[in-house]
Amino acid sequence: MAMTQTQLLHELEPVVAVELDRHNAMAKEWFPHEYVPWSEGRDFDGVYGGEAWQESDSKIPEAARVSLIVNLLTEDNLPSYHHEIASTFGRDGAWGTWVHRWTAEEDRHGTAIRDYLTVTRAVDPVALERARMAHMEQGFQSEYGTMLQQLAYVSFQELATRISHRNTGKASGDEGCERLLARIAADENLHMLFYRNLLKAAFELDPNQTMRAVTDVVTTFQMPGSGMDGFARKSLIIANEGIYDLRLHLDDVLMPVLRQWAVFDKTGLDGDGEKAREELSAFLAKTDATAARFVERREERRARAAARQ
Ligand SMILES: [Fe+2]
Ligand SMILES: [Fe+2]
Repeated sequence: MAMTQTQLLHELEPVVAVELDRHNAMAKEWFPHEYVPWSEGRDFDGVYGGEAWQESDSKIPEAARVSLIVNLLTEDNLPSYHHEIASTFGRDGAWGTWVHRWTAEEDRHGTAIRDYLTVTRAVDPVALERARMAHMEQGFQSEYGTMLQQLAYVSFQELATRISHRNTGKASGDEGCERLLARIAADENLHMLFYRNLLKAAFELDPNQTMRAVTDVVTTFQMPGSGMDGFARKSLIIANEGIYDLRLHLDDVLMPVLRQWAVFDKTGLDGDGEKAREELSAFLAKTDATAARFVERREERRARAAARQ
């Protein structure tokens, strides 16, 4: 008999408590204001009559700028994410403590990145604010209806966010930006560990149902910011730069997490669980081929561009 989502939430609560303690022991307090070079700031036009932003103000290359905006807008949608996980995991007991702790940590990310970009004039603050309004007004709704699917989703998504922040920092060519994004990426990694360990415990409680949830999520995974205006075009720019692409998604996000859960070594799967694992296997093989083709074409394009110069 498959466990109900309510039974699973109840059975997982002691694991949440253990993981919370582990998380709190590992998490390092940090201060967004220390990561922002305030002395570089100057007034903008409007209330203080300074200079409006212009393209030449930014020292950050185009692709990294696009990625910074996508990452920041994604962080900005925190109220919707909070709503989603609070509705699924609840606000009581250890689950509730985690939901609120996680929300408080995530809230630093948007604040810190926005301050950094505004002070250093890395992006157009007017366009950024309009994009934030448009993006947040859409809200965010999880594609996934069950607690297990949502747990699987955040396990991958936190790691995806970690990789994306870290590689955006590197691509920025800006030491301060890289330092800040590395700091944020370290938070995302701890979030990933929390969710990944919980899902590992869910595998022990109900392997077949958990396997199905993992396959459902891996085969339909979208980044949390995928609803934003121009996301397809922006993600192509980000992929072409090698900040986040299908190769990284497969090798650095999906596979390490799947390996940690040992999904391909699990015994005791049957029925739909076994079927889900076969579907997952086929999907990963197909994705690997698509990723290889993408990288090959990107290398050809780069070689052609280099030859032209
Ligand atoms: Fe974040
Ligand atoms: Fe996170």
